[in-house]
Amino acid sequence: MNALAQPGNQKAINTSTTVLIGAQWGDEGKGKWIDSLAAEAELVVRYQGGNNAGHTLYVNGKKIVLHQLPSGIFHDGQVSALAAGVVVNPAQLVIEMERAAEFGVTLHPSRLWLSGRAHVITPWHIYLDEQRESRSHGAIGTTKRGIGPTYSDKASRSGLRLGHFVNETSRKRWLQQMRELHPEFTKVLHDRHEAWVAFEAAATRLAPFVTDAEAKIRTAVAAGKKVLLEGAQGALLDIDHGTYPFVTSSTTGSAGACQSIGLAPRHIGACIGIAKGYVTRVGAGPFPTELHDEVGKSLAAKGQEFGATTGRPRRVGWLDAVALRYVVDVNGLSGVILNKMDILTGLKEVKIAVAYRHPTEGELTTMPWDTEVLEQCQPVYVTLPGWSEEIPRSGKIADLPAAARQFVAEVERHIGAPVMMVGTGPNRGDALYR
Ligand code: GDP
Ligand code: IMO
Ligand code: MG
Repeated sequence: MNALAQPGNQKAINTSTTVLIGAQWGDEGKGKWIDSLAAEAELVVRYQGGNNAGHTLYVNGKKIVLHQLPSGIFHDGQVSALAAGVVVNPAQLVIEMERAAEFGVTLHPSRLWLSGRAHVITPWHIYLDEQRESRSHGAIGTTKRGIGPTYSDKASRSGLRLGHFVNETSRKRWLQQMRELHPEFTKVLHDRHEAWVAFEAAATRLAPFVTDAEAKIRTAVAAGKKVLLEGAQGALLDIDHGTYPFVTSSTTGSAGACQSIGLAPRHIGACIGIAKGYVTRVGAGPFPTELHDEVGKSLAAKGQEFGATTGRPRRVGWLDAVALRYVVDVNGLSGVILNKMDILTGLKEVKIAVAYRHPTEGELTTMPWDTEVLEQCQPVYVTLPGWSEEIPRSGKIADLPAAARQFVAEVERHIGAPVMMVGTGPNRGDALYR
């Protein structure tokens, strides 16, 4: 018998920890679903990305877009945390904490844990992001929130961690080092004076919340607490497994959650991916099923497909089952949530890409690693009848109109994973279950 598998060597494994990731190129509806599912969780953790994220939720009919705080923050008595893999814009975080307070959420260090290990986005990083994006070639359509430069400094070991940011001595030391390292830094300090003032001011406000968040999260997991790990962006924007270089700079996939928290993979009970019933993408990069016709325009209008962070129009296309199956495989998804199904209502027919056709490689049924190859791919579609009946806001997937059920079944068949839930509207509880 394999010694490792003997019962004496097994520690209690808490499988009540669930990772929720975006299964496309972001904006799948993570905010709404985290907020809905958080009702059953005791702890919600954001594990990567920064305020490039824009997670929309509705609380008592009021729209809120969260960029830094976890989307479970509006549930009483629940703990929210930002783990080591997140990058934090301190001034933005303070704004959000104040907005949350306006909604009656009392933030206390016992219910908001900010990792001392998380890296800080500074006005310098935002400046660098803007500079890179203004080049005539090589722009990738970032959110210009300083994400790439902050993760770059982290990797090159010259970054500023949140725990050091809130300490005046170490913050000043870092600023001095940057002045010595970069000739332009002093000019940026001067030119962006107001941003630096807000940056400094945030240190005092955030200091009480900065802690060893990862140790606390591990303790919560060991105690059997129900934990939701909230991904930002989407699996196809992952730095390693996404459509590089048209990606973000973090590990957006399910494994990123473990790395960010320092939580062993065996503690993860389920990985769930959220996908729209169609696809959107903001910024540049390949998008095989992109629509440039009236159907695309009507989906964009009905789905209100404008970026929650930058307000940019989102590119829109048919559901891509080749890409989604890839995301299921890469992330070990136990199932997917098919969101915004209500937006597909009223179309005469609906399409799902089930393969790609490449001019020289022929038909591909798996996602090519090479972004340039993906650029040249044309989708091969299955076409299904649409439905005109309004879909029910709540209830069961079995309550969907027959054509919508057929769509769900076809998606499952092509991605090799079950559709666990269906999204039917932007509010908490606009959902169909199995
Ligand atoms: P996130 O970044 O994944 O949290 O998604 P965003 O908030 O950027 O974009 C999702 C948009 O769709 C938001 O405007 C949500 O209010 C909205 N939304 C979420 N789920 C549904 C749904 O099932 N139906 C409809 N019609 N809208 C939804
Ligand atoms: P949520 O969490 C959609 C995209 C940008 C750009 C690329 C790199 O709301 O789903 P970055 O600023 O991260 O360096 O930009 O990634 N992007 C997103 N697209 N939703 C997001 O977040 C995104 N965050 C970044 O548009 O193409
Ligand atoms: Mg978003």
